[in-house]
Amino acid sequence: MALHDLKNELSSILANTKVETYGRLTQVCEVLQRSISYYNWVGFYFANHEAQTLHLKAFAGEPTDHIVIPFGKGICGQVAVSNENFVVPDISAQDNYIACSITVKSEIVVPLFKNGKNIGQIDIDSHAPDPFSKEDELFLEWVNEQVAEIIEVP
Ligand code: SME
Repeated sequence: MALHDLKNELSSILANTKVETYGRLTQVCEVLQRSISYYNWVGFYFANHEAQTLHLKAFAGEPTDHIVIPFGKGICGQVAVSNENFVVPDISAQDNYIACSITVKSEIVVPLFKNGKNIGQIDIDSHAPDPFSKEDELFLEWVNEQVAEIIEVP
């Protein structure tokens, strides 16, 4: 599917107020996982800044044990504090990594900002070695900007 069509599909899902917010995010994860061959697990974690933890709120792919991740732990936890994209071409080269499945070879985590604050992230695992490009980063930043529009933060 062309990126333009994929963006349109994601925008329609996010605009559908008949589905509750995290239901829409689950649909976004499902569409991303289905549409891009090397996106094998797709999830959104959101931060609890008081507890300094990330919480899995929507995903597509194999269920994971890692539904709560402390800030600083793993690739996700590092992005919670760095506020920067983290592209991991080869997870075996990372010391601070939380393994979800032995089939995962690479990962990308892009922070999600609302009103300038890092409130969560999109996390994608791939079974392919080194599949993520700058185009993925820009696309996932775009996805997170759209998601930020529908997330209510206190
Ligand atoms: N690998 C991640 C943990 C989350 S799973 O990929 C679903 C990490 O190191 O933070």
